[in-house]
Amino acid sequence: MKPITLIQFLIEERRAGHINAELSLLIEVVARACKRIGVAVGKGALGGVLGNAGTDNVQGEAQKKLDVISNEILLEANAWGGHLAACASEEMEDPQPIPDMYPKGQHLLLFDPLDGSSNIDVNVSVGTIFSVLRCPDGVTEPKAEHFLQPGTTQLAAGYVVYGPSTLLVLTFGHGSHEFTLDREVGSFVLSRRGIRIPETTAEFAINMSNQRHWQAPMQRYVGELLAGKDGPRGKDFNMRWVASMVADVHRIMTRGGVFYYPLDAKITAKGGTGKLRLMYEANPMAFIVEQAGGAATTGRERIMDLQPTALHQRVPVFLGSKQEIELATHYHVEADGAQG
Ligand code: AHG
Repeated sequence: MKPITLIQFLIEERRAGHINAELSLLIEVVARACKRIGVAVGKGALGGVLGNAGTDNVQGEAQKKLDVISNEILLEANAWGGHLAACASEEMEDPQPIPDMYPKGQHLLLFDPLDGSSNIDVNVSVGTIFSVLRCPDGVTEPKAEHFLQPGTTQLAAGYVVYGPSTLLVLTFGHGSHEFTLDREVGSFVLSRRGIRIPETTAEFAINMSNQRHWQAPMQRYVGELLAGKDGPRGKDFNMRWVASMVADVHRIMTRGGVFYYPLDAKITAKGGTGKLRLMYEANPMAFIVEQAGGAATTGRERIMDLQPTALHQRVPVFLGSKQEIELATHYHVEADGAQG
């Protein structure tokens, strides 16, 4: 069969009435920017892009050079096309307005420009995650409050993995689809349409070094997985943890599995509400995973139903194969009920 490029796919989606011309352009621009990020990532030491930038982001995390470079590439690419009202990024405290010299569009773009930064210097897969919202009617200068829309209102979400291949996974709410970058031609080509995550799995992803800090229901749930054949689950489970959410989620999108970044005592002791960011990590990944038949919760409620309260809000994330996520969520809700 003739390969379908991302551009052709976007034209089909427009004809099907799933997206408009502005959203199609937005995705083209983001995909083009991600190709540039992929080139920068691929150069590694030869491009002088490894190591720390010597600055901290809004969340007090040391920025890597590639965090800064990727953020600039996405901002620059999205400034002038007329498809956006504003951008927001993990790397910037406040939303970035579109410069006055350019026309403004109807969309808001949020991104984590380089997810999995701790893996850059050790040559392990990293990625970009993005979410697209509609700018509220009548708002010409969007502020943070205008981005605070629940995940259910997302018009599009995607992630790119810079790994052995560069891959884009995309949803407009009509299934999740994978595109592989043909590096010789320079185009993303459709490699899987309508991805489905198996409902059951025997593989889980969690940072086990936090085990002693977890809440009781998480201890119970993972304890049962670890007990394997001899425990209440009656089967052995395998574990993987890349520490790049994009790579861990992509494995789940490929062969099923579950990913957990729960709330723990280490986080709550610092007044935190989770590790991962709702607006540009949890929500877009939840949209993509749900569109592939998986589930995504905070352990207590559906991620996409949350009403955001802050641009850089953090939440616990449980996502992947439906039956496992439902069980882990049930343990938490049941424990809360018993307490309350
Ligand atoms: P960042 O955007 O700061 O690179 O976040 C990385 C995230 C996510 O990609 C990964 O799943 C998680 O942090 C890893 O956390 P630990 O280092 O605590 O395992």
